Amino acid sequence: MDQIYKQLESQGIGRGLLKDLETFREKYPVPDKAANRLLRPVIPYFGGEILEMSIAALLQGENLLLSGSKATGKNVLAENLAWVFQRPLYNVSFHVNTDSSSLIGTDTFVAQEVRFREGPVYQCAVNGGFGILDEINMAKNDAAAVLHATLDFRRMIDVPGYDRIFLHDATRFIATMNYGYAGTRELNEALVSRFMVIDMPDITEEILGRILQETFPQMNKKATEVFSGLFLDLQLKAKNSEISTKPLDLRGLLAAIRMMQSGVAPEKALAMGLVNKSFDVFEKEIVQDVVSTRIPADWTQGDIF
Ligand SMILES: Nc1ncnc2c1ncn2[C@@H]1O[C@H](COP(=O)(O)OP(=O)(O)O)[C@@H](O)[C@H]1O
Ligand SMILES: [Mg+2]
Repeated sequence: MDQIYKQLESQGIGRGLLKDLETFREKYPVPDKAANRLLRPVIPYFGGEILEMSIAALLQGENLLLSGSKATGKNVLAENLAWVFQRPLYNVSFHVNTDSSSLIGTDTFVAQEVRFREGPVYQCAVNGGFGILDEINMAKNDAAAVLHATLDFRRMIDVPGYDRIFLHDATRFIATMNYGYAGTRELNEALVSRFMVIDMPDITEEILGRILQETFPQMNKKATEVFSGLFLDLQLKAKNSEISTKPLDLRGLLAAIRMMQSGVAPEKALAMGLVNKSFDVFEKEIVQDVVSTRIPADWTQGDIF
């Protein structure tokens, strides 16, 4: 627990906010049946200002919409928020077939009886969870419309054929939305109006350095700079629409470095983690060029760690 506060303090989160956070946590202990949903994030979210804004809004009872391009840490932030508030986490991925029953629940037959099978939004609501509505803009707008009453001041769920239920006081929803450099599916106004919106900043060299250091403490400074530079090159090319966002894959880069750590040649690892993510010959060539420019051909494991 102390560690969480230290982490937040070191990122410049004000004392007052930390105090309010503590009060919140004392007020809402985690229910036993949801304790297995308390999940420690694999990496802290780096970015004090964004953390501060998010924590303040959630303490006020608001729901959050995190909008930003790929790899701006939207999911990492959402997971960190659930952890610092010590709330059970419910993750719901939105897609074109998302409907009311996959969110709220549906009737099923169990031993010749009709029973309501609770969906993740329902469980999140009753257990005081933090629900991540992941890539909410990928669903059809009428699917998300069933959440209108859940997300606004009414804080309730109308379960068809059953009573309405009210949200636990500690329940919050954090939606994410990939607001790409090209081809974004818009979210309608009625839905957006139910959130406080955070525009997630693009990743910077400094933050990249911290992510790399946190993930690979043994990596040397030179290699950290090289990999940051590589990612920023790709980010710029994606921004300028020279490439799609497919090869702009930070998770892929981290996975590639992990492979280098176990002895795979950098070029091969980066092919799997980044270059091969584009399935367009021209794009692939551009990405390969960026990689070859940044990564010395004779590099081995020993040059990195
Ligand atoms: N500010 C940040 N702090 C920590 N990790 C970050 C940050 N920004 C990006 N990342 C890293 O980027 C990768 C993708 O993060 P994720 O949250 O899945 O991005 P998004 O949901 O915005 O596409 C993860 O490996 C994560 O560690
Ligand atoms: Mg995401």
